[in-house]
Amino acid sequence: MAQSLSVRHLVGIKDLTESDIQLILETASQFKEVINRPIKKVPSLRDVTIANVFFENSTRTRLSFELAEKRLSADVVNFSASGSSVKKGETLLDTVNNILAMKVDMVVMRHSSPGAPHYLTKHIKANVVNAGDGTHEHPTQALLDSFSIREKLGDVAGKRIAIIGDITHSRVALSNIFCLQKQGADVMVCGPKTLIPKYIEALGVKVGHDVRAALAWCDVANVLRIQLERQQIKYFPSLREYSLYFGISKQMLDELDRPIVLMHPGPINRGVELTSDAADSSHSIILDQVENGVAVRMAVLYLLAQL
Ligand code: CP
Repeated sequence: MAQSLSVRHLVGIKDLTESDIQLILETASQFKEVINRPIKKVPSLRDVTIANVFFENSTRTRLSFELAEKRLSADVVNFSASGSSVKKGETLLDTVNNILAMKVDMVVMRHSSPGAPHYLTKHIKANVVNAGDGTHEHPTQALLDSFSIREKLGDVAGKRIAIIGDITHSRVALSNIFCLQKQGADVMVCGPKTLIPKYIEALGVKVGHDVRAALAWCDVANVLRIQLERQQIKYFPSLREYSLYFGISKQMLDELDRPIVLMHPGPINRGVELTSDAADSSHSIILDQVENGVAVRMAVLYLLAQL
């Protein structure tokens, strides 16, 4: 396994080697041990200043990055587009350069435009971490998902993972496909034909439209939210109909002839893609994913800061 990352920025899983992924997951295991100690803080990033720059809403990712940074003793500044001078017409680059002028070393950015973090890497010296760019990638989510699968099943290699739901509008889907395949997992995407991009088979994934068949096939079901905010047209008649054909209940999980692991990146639309009894069942590792997110983000920030 490599001792350092092959990239200066974490823009997407597509850019990582398998060795990078293993290094991040191994480092995250050590940080998970740290954050379960009575004193959860280490001095690793003392004197490093990190700006969390969020142009789009977030609960989990933003809190998780901020906690990760504080656990590493970094100095943290937070920026939200709402209430900022972005509303007065300032460009992305001007906004970020103004933040950097205050001597910031790393930028964690969420943006609604695919490619926005990549654009930043071409124009600024600070390390850039993509916290989700439009429908493109959400690399730390995929890494924490793999960490959670490893923790639950021992390994990702050889496992069958079904990604179920709105694949077209999901950055979590694309990052997970890259991350899981690089580790040797077998990946299926499942959802209505209108929510699965035509090109997806070229990525080497199986494609299904029958949620019961996907559940019977997989070891892990990673269920995604219907991203209504990114849908400009109607992709299915109603949420009620979506939930009738693609929603997952605890009963469906209990009826399988072997147990599977249920995941969801959040936020959950309860009663749409998952019933509450499924989301809160013993199959679910949804809150473990959230806990693991802090350790994985500590690992990413720590490793990037060494370069
Ligand atoms: N999983 C995830 O990205 O959640 P948030 O949008 O709340 O950050």
